[in-house]
Amino acid sequence: MSDVEKVTEHFDHHDVAFMQDPLGGYAEMRERCPVAHSDQHGGFWIITTYDDLHEVYFDTDHFSSFVPTIPNSGHGERKFPLTMSDPPEHSLYRQIVQPYFTQQKMAEYEPEVRKRVTVLIDAFIERGEADLFWDFARKLPASVIADIIGTPYEDGVKFEDWAHRITQATATEPESAALAYEEMNDYFLALLGQREAEPRDDLLTLLAGATVGDGVQPWPDGREGAAESTRQVDDRLLTDEERVMFCILIMMAGFDTTSSFIGTMLWWLAEHPDQRARLVADRTLIPSAVDELLRCFPPGSPARVIKKDTELRGQQMREGDPVLLLTASANRDTIFEDADEVIFERKPNKHLGFGMGIHRCLGMHLARLESEVALQEILRRLPDYQLVPGTQIEWSHGQIWGPRNLQVTF
Ligand code: HEM
Repeated sequence: MSDVEKVTEHFDHHDVAFMQDPLGGYAEMRERCPVAHSDQHGGFWIITTYDDLHEVYFDTDHFSSFVPTIPNSGHGERKFPLTMSDPPEHSLYRQIVQPYFTQQKMAEYEPEVRKRVTVLIDAFIERGEADLFWDFARKLPASVIADIIGTPYEDGVKFEDWAHRITQATATEPESAALAYEEMNDYFLALLGQREAEPRDDLLTLLAGATVGDGVQPWPDGREGAAESTRQVDDRLLTDEERVMFCILIMMAGFDTTSSFIGTMLWWLAEHPDQRARLVADRTLIPSAVDELLRCFPPGSPARVIKKDTELRGQQMREGDPVLLLTASANRDTIFEDADEVIFERKPNKHLGFGMGIHRCLGMHLARLESEVALQEILRRLPDYQLVPGTQIEWSHGQIWGPRNLQVTF
């Protein structure tokens, strides 16, 4: 067994120490054992190269989305629509919420995002110091996604607590994560009930009345010719579990990833004042800079589970094996020229930060909008912010990665 295999044998994305500097180890993994195996959390595969991630994203016959976290995040028997479904069911769920997150819808939402960004900056700018993670990067996506779902603004605090218990504490305190699901279930069920009685213009109202077609299905066994023929199944209302899990999914997906990423961008720009000055001087660079920073520092590592035995790069994968997709590694693979360098003008930039294939991020236009407006306003109002000397950045662990503090003065 090579040295790198010895390391990857115990690879653990929940290892706090490793996640303080994970990028350093990925280049060696890509080169020496691109499909690695870890014995942690009951054992799982780790995919590290761009081409392999690409293949896995499009091969839904062998790589199922049914297990989206390693280890299980405490959702028990409950199933997330979208992230835990495969074709053909996946598209039936996706078409319910897709119209809500189009590029055009999000462009119309821009003034609201800018207003929220402004209020957050107003709250600390006079102080001359802030923790840009807790005072800004964490609060913005919580407030935006609460607004879109239709929950009260103050409940952002609850989102924070639930997200922490589900993404960070799941490996060490599984009972707390399981309890968080119970709390979220009661919370969203009550709100959905309110919207049934009094509809509003929000996602809760959409989900309260949403129907799903189970599509074309085989006839039940026993009917004459059952094997050859199919029937069209009528649409039905979503079940309570589907509606609640939709709310939890969109809250979690919209909150933790985006706040982690905005925190990472602000951290990197603090560490690279020359590059930051370029964005201050030329704001037209901001959209491509956001994409490039997402390539270099993607917050998410999605997971899959083997549906049918298969082989990848000579590794035999068995039905039921979990698989971790290391986006941060794939995004620095040799398909990108000078992959370790942040190049704001990089074009094309087909990074995997938002995933690929049928599960490609539903909220990517919203995430881009929040990230761009956040950068525009921070760089306009505190262009020369600096990390407080001696600040030790703590990084999150698990499948969502980003800083968890960012003390600055300006
Ligand atoms: C910078 C921020 C974000 C990043 C990096 C990100 C990343 C991703 C990635 C990599 C996937 C694919 C997961 C997989 O293949 O298993 C995904 C899916 C998803 N994202 Fe995002 N995301 C972000 C923001 C958001 C926001 C703001 C929302 C709000 C709606 C959102 C909602 C979703 C949903 C619902 C899915 C599942 C889509 C499906 O399975 O069809 N994301 N995201």
